[in-house]
Amino acid sequence: MAEQPSLNDPFEIGGVRIPNRVMLAPLAGIGNWFVRLQAKRYGAGMAVSEMVSSFGLHYGNDRTLNEMLRIHPDEHPVSVQLFGQDPGVMASAASIAAGRGADLIDINMGCPVPKVRRTGAGAELLSDPELALELARAAAEGGGLPVTVKLRSGLMPGDRSGYELAIRLVEEAGVAAIGFHPRVAKQGHKGSPDYAMARELGRAIAVPMVISGGLSSADAARRAYEQSGADAVMIARGSLGYPWVFAQLTGDRIEPPDQVELMDELAWVIDRAEEHMGPERAGRYLRKFYPWYLDRVDLPKLVKNELCQTAGLDRAREIVAEIRHGKAVAV
Ligand SMILES: Cc1cc2nc3c(=O)[nH]c(=O)nc-3n(C[C@H](O)[C@H](O)[C@H](O)COP(=O)(O)O)c2cc1C
Repeated sequence: MAEQPSLNDPFEIGGVRIPNRVMLAPLAGIGNWFVRLQAKRYGAGMAVSEMVSSFGLHYGNDRTLNEMLRIHPDEHPVSVQLFGQDPGVMASAASIAAGRGADLIDINMGCPVPKVRRTGAGAELLSDPELALELARAAAEGGGLPVTVKLRSGLMPGDRSGYELAIRLVEEAGVAAIGFHPRVAKQGHKGSPDYAMARELGRAIAVPMVISGGLSSADAARRAYEQSGADAVMIARGSLGYPWVFAQLTGDRIEPPDQVELMDELAWVIDRAEEHMGPERAGRYLRKFYPWYLDRVDLPKLVKNELCQTAGLDRAREIVAEIRHGKAVAV
């Protein structure tokens, strides 16, 4: 059996060179340009955007076009993930994303959220393979870029419809890579991913298979890479507040960050969020980011709570500076 490449070895998706095999997974409401840029700064070979509505792009929704599709010049290569269930709209959205600088288009066929599934998009596409194939072809024609698909293994326990669809997407729609999350939609994000099934899929398709699911730490990602025989790994929840996981997987870094590094990074995030959406919206948006960083700091709960509850960026910056300098105390 041929030896699996190192996670540091480059590879290609549809002719696009990815400098290593460690990627940031798509994360709705999170994976904007600065979260992707953060992953790149720490060594990720590529980052995939949060899922972007194909309808939002097609109908010119301002935030969809100008916030969700914002790409930083240092991010490339970058993949923009689209969701939707209308091939014409998907073609138009892929064309817009290509025009804004995407290097790859990914289609979401894995989202288990009822609001998305009810429209026929996300994981619901596993139950309509013909439409799924049409969407992939439409995205390729519309965008002129390589198209990848991220999907789950099935809908219900025991169902392999995602596995079967993945093979058809490659063979019949020319999809350039599969992001495989071997949990069924019913499981949401819980339970053990079926890496053995992923291995079987990797052998069955002639394009890269990128494994997702259960990659909660660098060690877990390495194990999943080996067990699934994947061509690359996609880090999702394991990267939240912890971009160091990319350095641990692609560089020499082993030790976790200390309090100073954690707070310096959080200060960088606060600045970028303000740049992205202005101080007021950023103040509210960042409240979900703070716990990710604070969970790794040994501090009284009261101090953590104060940061998590503040909507003002000035006060947030003060608290972060106090924690950084070891001056934060509970009052
Ligand atoms: C908050 C959150 C948002 C997510 N958003 C997306 C998304 O927009 N598109 C997508 O394909 N998967 C999305 N996922 C799934 C992840 O990309 C990944 O497949 C999943 O979290 C399993 O990986 P993990 O167990 O290592 O976290 C999301 C997951 C979480 C937790």
